[in-house]
Amino acid sequence: MIKIAPSILAADFSKLAEEVREVEAAGAELIHIDVMDGHFVPNITMGAIVVEALRPVTKLPLDVHLMIDNPDAFIEQFAKAGADYITVHVEACRHLHRTLQFIKSTGVKSGVVLNPHTPIETILHVLDEIDLVLFMTVNPGFGGQKFIHSVLPKVKQLSDLIKERNLSIEIEIDGGINEETIIPCVEAGATIFVAGSAIYNETDRAAALKRIKAAGES
Ligand code: DX5
Ligand code: ZN
Repeated sequence: MIKIAPSILAADFSKLAEEVREVEAAGAELIHIDVMDGHFVPNITMGAIVVEALRPVTKLPLDVHLMIDNPDAFIEQFAKAGADYITVHVEACRHLHRTLQFIKSTGVKSGVVLNPHTPIETILHVLDEIDLVLFMTVNPGFGGQKFIHSVLPKVKQLSDLIKERNLSIEIEIDGGINEETIIPCVEAGATIFVAGSAIYNETDRAAALKRIKAAGES
């Protein structure tokens, strides 16, 4: 069973509600929201007010990807705004364990994100605190970049470990996902796939989403 999480970063912001409803109707399982602060990554996008505005628009879980320094200062805001998942970058957290406990205390599902170069050893001691690991298959900051294949062995490594220890942690992939790149990611053990440009840059978003999902399930 694979899940598709369209990233609204590639959507038309002048009609965001419509853009979200369209992918929900097409069978999306989550809505991925990319929060960037211009410090942790070289781009600025959106904050908790966008999460709050979208909350009544969709029944789908809102998957909030924080690409920000000092995420602790904003976790409560995003939880109150209606986030269902909050993921934080290992590279942005000084006290990762504390941050993850903080997310959990707000009642939101917690996840960690690894940049392409970050080894899985950095999260081995927080596996009990998380519901999700998000692997970046591009360097965070922008949509529409090329998929980095060298991340895949890490995905497989963690997936094997999760099975071995019988943990209930989902693996999500973000960056450059399309109907071709999703295939080796599924083989490596991932189950949730973020897709921005591969869905929103197409005129027929529903068809694009269904093609990506079908490729992943084949
Ligand atoms: C990149 C973001 C991604 C981005 C994916 O920093 O985290 O979620 O929107 O966009 P595509 O699918 O176009 O690579
Ligand atoms: Zn993202």
